[in-house]
Amino acid sequence: MDRLIIEGPSKMSGEVAVSSAKNAYLPILAATLVTSKPVHLKNLPDLKDIKTMIKLLTHLGVVVETKGDVTSFDSSKILSNEATYDLVKTMRASILVLGPILGRFLESKISLPGGCAIGARPIDLHLKNLKKMNANITIESGYVYAKTNGLKSADITLNFPSVGATENLMMAALFADGETVIENAAMEPEVEDLANFLIAMGAKIQGSGTSRLSIKGNMKADDFKEVTYEAIGDRIEAGTLIMAALITNSKIKVKNINPRHLSVVLHVLEEMGAAFEIGKNFITVKPSKLKWSKIHTAPYPGFPTDLQAQIMTLATKAEGASIIREEIFENRFMHVPELVRLGAEIELIGNAAIIQGNTKLTGCPVMCTDLRASAALVLAAMSAEGVTDVQRVYHLDRGYERLEEKLKMLGVKIERSNPGEYL
Ligand code: EPZ
Repeated sequence: MDRLIIEGPSKMSGEVAVSSAKNAYLPILAATLVTSKPVHLKNLPDLKDIKTMIKLLTHLGVVVETKGDVTSFDSSKILSNEATYDLVKTMRASILVLGPILGRFLESKISLPGGCAIGARPIDLHLKNLKKMNANITIESGYVYAKTNGLKSADITLNFPSVGATENLMMAALFADGETVIENAAMEPEVEDLANFLIAMGAKIQGSGTSRLSIKGNMKADDFKEVTYEAIGDRIEAGTLIMAALITNSKIKVKNINPRHLSVVLHVLEEMGAAFEIGKNFITVKPSKLKWSKIHTAPYPGFPTDLQAQIMTLATKAEGASIIREEIFENRFMHVPELVRLGAEIELIGNAAIIQGNTKLTGCPVMCTDLRASAALVLAAMSAEGVTDVQRVYHLDRGYERLEEKLKMLGVKIERSNPGEYL
C-alpha cells in the first residue's frame, strides 16, 4: 500500500491550480446516462472515484473514449440497468445512477451503498421521494429494485438538503410528466454545476444554486443536445491547499477556483487572522498569525464538513483553544487519534472537538482512515518537526489528484513510497 513520507516543517511558495471538482464530476458522469447524444468532458481529474464511476458506466454499456484532456461518453446503447455490489461498495456515489436509469429506462437494480467510515449515509431521502414520483421501490438482498410505468412530477420538500438526494431527484425529474419542484434542495456549487451541465444539454431547470429547484420533465434521451463541458474547480482541494499554506506560514497562489464557493471558509479564516488577496479565479494566501475559532459544519453555504478535518489540524497551531462541531456526519473525527499521535491535544465531547492551540507536532507514522482525514494528516505532517510516514494513502487518492506532486512543486519535502498505480 502506498504511503507518503513527509519531512517537516515545510515552507511553501509559488502557484498551484486545483483540479476540476470530484463532487461535481461524479453526478455529471452519472448524468451522461440521461442522454443518447455524445457528451465531452474536459479535464476529468485522475482520481480513483472518477475511475470507479467510469467503470460503472462502462459496465452499463456507455462507450467511453479519451483523447487528450477530453473524455467522450456515448450512452446511446445502454445494455444493463444494474449496478452491482462489487462496483457500488467501493464508491457510494454510484447510487447517483439510480435517478437517470429509472427515469430513462423505467427500471433499475442498484446495490445499496452500505455504510462508510464517516457515517451510516442512508439514502432514505432519495428513495422516499422517488416513490412520490410514482416509483415502486423495494429493497431485497442488499439491492434497491426501482420500477415505474412512468415517473410523475411532484412537489418535493427535503427534510434535509441532501446533496445526493437533490442530484438523483433532479435527474429523475427530467423524465417525469410535468414540472417537479424540489424545496430545501442542496445548494452546494457541485449541485449547481450539475444543473448547469443539464441545462447545457437542453434541460429546463430553474433555481440552480438556490434551495428551490424546478425541473421541466417530459424529456426523452434523444431530446438532449451533444455537449462539451468542464466542471468547476475543486473548492475542497482549494481549501485544503489554503490551509496548508496557513499552517506552514507560507505565501502561495491557488488558481482555478471561484472564491465565492469558499466565502464562509475564507470568512472563518480571516476571523482567525488570515489575510488573502482574492481574484476572480484565484486566492493568494499571505503568511498570518492565527488565533482560535469556533466552527460548526453546515450545508452550503455554511462551513463544509469536507474541510472540518483540515481546519482541525490548522487549529492545533492557532493561538488559544478552538472548538469544532461536526453537524453533518456522525463519525467524522477519525483523524483525531492520529493527530494526537503527532502531539495534538484534542478532547472529544459528543459531536464537538476542543483543540488546544500552539501545540508542537512531532513526526511519526500515522494512518489514513478516510479521504478528508488523510488530508488533515498531510497538513499536520507539513507542520510537524521531523519525518511523518502517512500510511494507507489510497484514501487520499480518492479525492486529491497527485497531491504530492503539487505539494512538492510548492517546496514541500514529500515522497510517495511503493509508487504503485495512483488508482
Ligand atoms: C456529498 O455526499 C459529498 N459526496 C460528500 O463528500 C459531502 O461530505 C456531503 O455531500 C455533504 O456535503 C459527493 O458529492 C460525491 P448528503 P452525500 O446526502 O450526497 C444524511 C467527500 O469527502 N442523509 O448531503 O452522501 C446523511 O446521513 C465526500 O468528498 C440522510 O439522512 O451527502 C448525512 O448525515 C464525503 N438521508 C447528511 O444527510 C439521505 O437520503 C449529508 O448527506 C441522504 C443523506
